[in-house]
Amino acid sequence: MKFFLDTASLKDISWAAQAGLIDGITTNPSLLAKQAGDLDPRDVLKEICSLVDGPVSAEVVAVDADGMVREGKELAKIADNIVVKIPMLEAGMVAVRRLASDGIKTNVTLCFSSVQCLIAAKAGAAYVSPFIGRLDDVGQEGMDVIREARVIFDNYQLATEILAASIRHPRHVVEAAMIGADVATLPPDVLKKLLLHPLTDRGLEQFLADWKKLGTRPKAPV
Ligand code: G3P
Repeated sequence: MKFFLDTASLKDISWAAQAGLIDGITTNPSLLAKQAGDLDPRDVLKEICSLVDGPVSAEVVAVDADGMVREGKELAKIADNIVVKIPMLEAGMVAVRRLASDGIKTNVTLCFSSVQCLIAAKAGAAYVSPFIGRLDDVGQEGMDVIREARVIFDNYQLATEILAASIRHPRHVVEAAMIGADVATLPPDVLKKLLLHPLTDRGLEQFLADWKKLGTRPKAPV
């Protein structure tokens, strides 16, 4: 399973990239607005693209097909690894097809059903992003969308990658991996939580304490 980091934070991206833990990045207008502050968001995206080898999703804010295609083409000029994020809209599907025919990869975002995922794949998206956590938040089983989309894409050998988004905790990652999502995009705090287990901390504490005791004891020759 590929891991993307769902952030525009340069600090978090640098750490995860140095540790070789991430295969790409996803951003959205909210995340980019938070990081950019006074900076030009395009410069932030450029910097992100230089930090990771894999795909970096950058989202359009237009909601009409011509506007999305225009913005998508501008975003694609920032770096070779930009993937244009397009919202799941009627006009969005037209934009996906037009960008795909120009060789620009897209990630269809704000997907909340498996049939939306199928539509995005048919339009020619490279990735579809079902939002797991936001479905859970309204009392639905977000993971069902990943489960159904996996079966549908396998039935018809659709090459579009299923990108599990709106991931809130490590269990989401485990379940998405067991179902066979191609990618999980993780907020930095969830990625860090994947490393943790209380027994790891307790075990390390014990090893170090035992080693320290050894240091204070007089040594006999072997
Ligand atoms: O980037 C899209 C998605 O991952 C957003 O997650 O936590 O805002 O629902 P969240």
